[in-house]
Amino acid sequence: MSATINSPIQSDCEVISNRRVGAYQHLTLAAPGISERVRPGNFVAISVGDSRSSMLLRRSFAIYQSTSRGPFGGTIEIIVAPHGAGSTWISQRAPHDRLNVVGPLGNAFKIPKDPVRALLVGGGYGSAPLFPLAEILRQKNSRVEMAVGASTAERIFAPVEGKRSVHSLAIATEDGSIGVAGRVTDLFDNSLSNIDIVYACGPMGMLKALTAIGERAGVTVACAVEESMACGVGLCMTCVLPVKDKTGVIKMVRSCVEGPIFDGDAVQWDGIGTIPPGTYGAPR
Ligand SMILES: Cc1cc2nc3c(=O)[nH]c(=O)nc-3n(C[C@H](O)[C@H](O)[C@H](O)COP(=O)(O)OP(=O)(O)OC[C@H]3O[C@@H](n4cnc5c(N)ncnc54)[C@H](O)[C@@H]3O)c2cc1C
Ligand code: FES
Repeated sequence: MSATINSPIQSDCEVISNRRVGAYQHLTLAAPGISERVRPGNFVAISVGDSRSSMLLRRSFAIYQSTSRGPFGGTIEIIVAPHGAGSTWISQRAPHDRLNVVGPLGNAFKIPKDPVRALLVGGGYGSAPLFPLAEILRQKNSRVEMAVGASTAERIFAPVEGKRSVHSLAIATEDGSIGVAGRVTDLFDNSLSNIDIVYACGPMGMLKALTAIGERAGVTVACAVEESMACGVGLCMTCVLPVKDKTGVIKMVRSCVEGPIFDGDAVQWDGIGTIPPGTYGAPR
């Protein structure tokens, strides 16, 4: 499901706004040069800390929205879950601060030429990049259903304006604080009847479960994976995961440049974090 990489640039981006949305921070950055080349599924890698910071590695964030017009000459928006030291630092940035951003990075969700019946499945902040995808699918006259899930209500990301871009939106939380009590995969018919393609972004366990459902139903599941990324630009190999190519050969591929979007049935989910036996180039 990959398209070609979209010529990233490095830019010092001013923070335009930073507001809390449930458990997340919604940051808007002035990003002319990046914003106009963003396609749904792309991400950015952001450096953290000041010049004396010991946090050397950039942190990756999916692009939620982008505009190429307006007073700032183009903006991108990201949804940050404060987690470790780096994402917490980014989540605390104030308007007029600057962030060093490399992007847009990675491949994009492939958009079918003809109208389709699509199911978009997001886990936690993983739903964010699915809303612009929904808009494009709607413009192509596709039917777009969305299912989002998280542990609690405050970890559901489903903004009012995003809800307008889908035909239906179903919500599941593990604690039952909003929507159906359970996992996001409990929300839809396991046979995926009336669905032509599934697009998914969220934790690896959710992607693996969805791929199994898709395989049983004969429906492709395009998965945006979230493997640890130390560089984001193809140099360090920390983000590799085992993926079967079209000839059936398993190769370790870089999820930052060949991904982050893969056909779920090509990803060797049980082998992530290892080099599975028989992988091309692995010692015998
Ligand atoms: C494509 C992609 C999209 C993402 N989108 C979002 C998003 O939209 N919103 C969001 O909140 N989060 C997103 N994340 C997750 C986010 O990047 C991580 O939560 C964040 O990197 C963690 O950083 P930290 O400083 O909070 O955590 P820390 O644990 O303090 O630091 C993690 C750092 O260690 C590095 N690291 C971890 N494991 C390894 C390893 N095995 N080898 C080398 N380096 C390693 C990481 O690259 C990172 O630089 C995304 C991740 C990816 C890969
Ligand atoms: S993160 Fe460095 S090669 Fe992918």
